[in-house]
Amino acid sequence: MKQERQPLYVTYQDVHRLIKKLAGQVNASGFVPDVIVAIGSGGFIPARILKSFVNRPIYAVGISYYGVADQHRNKPSKIQWIDEVRQNLHDKKILLIDEVDDSRATLGYCIGELLEYNPKEIAVLVLHNKEKQKDVEFPAEITRYFAGAQVEDIWIKYPWDAMDIDEHDALAHSQTT
Ligand code: G4P
Ligand code: MG
Repeated sequence: MKQERQPLYVTYQDVHRLIKKLAGQVNASGFVPDVIVAIGSGGFIPARILKSFVNRPIYAVGISYYGVADQHRNKPSKIQWIDEVRQNLHDKKILLIDEVDDSRATLGYCIGELLEYNPKEIAVLVLHNKEKQKDVEFPAEITRYFAGAQVEDIWIKYPWDAMDIDEHDALAHSQTT
């Protein structure tokens, strides 16, 4: 996560437009998911917007680098999982959504866990993919990958992290003008 460069400010409008574009790509690819699985917390708001275009139930999973004692771990672990819907993912086509494909560590871990449920297919959808060396490659089971935008290895400021959304939007607009 290099940060010498200016962060990229992304607005809610940008997120909505990216999701609409991505939904069109999913549709055009012929992939018809049975369920959406959102990786929290960054994938939650994108998943809800996606549901307006791809109307499927959303299951939420939480992944964290932090343990119960708030100790940072060197690999992700489950903090909230969908045991009760295990059967609902068996033999299903899953559209897995997260906000950003960065090191891919979280995404890769999550895919590994979901594959344990023997889904029919898993497609991955992210708002942004950072063009960088990834810690892990996707397993061969991932045949479809949709990224709304390719970005350099810079920090992305998402609107849901903003303390002052108007200032955030002003900074976003100053980057595009
Ligand atoms: P990846 O598998 O999706 O590539 O994620 P990775 O493990 O590399 O990233 C660790 C955390 O850092 C993730 O959050 C990810 O969303 C967040 N992250 C990575 N790059 C950026 C960025 O440019 N901007 C922002 N805002 N976040 C970034 P997490 O631990 O899953 O938590 P959450 O923030 O989604 O709740
Ligand atoms: Mg995330």
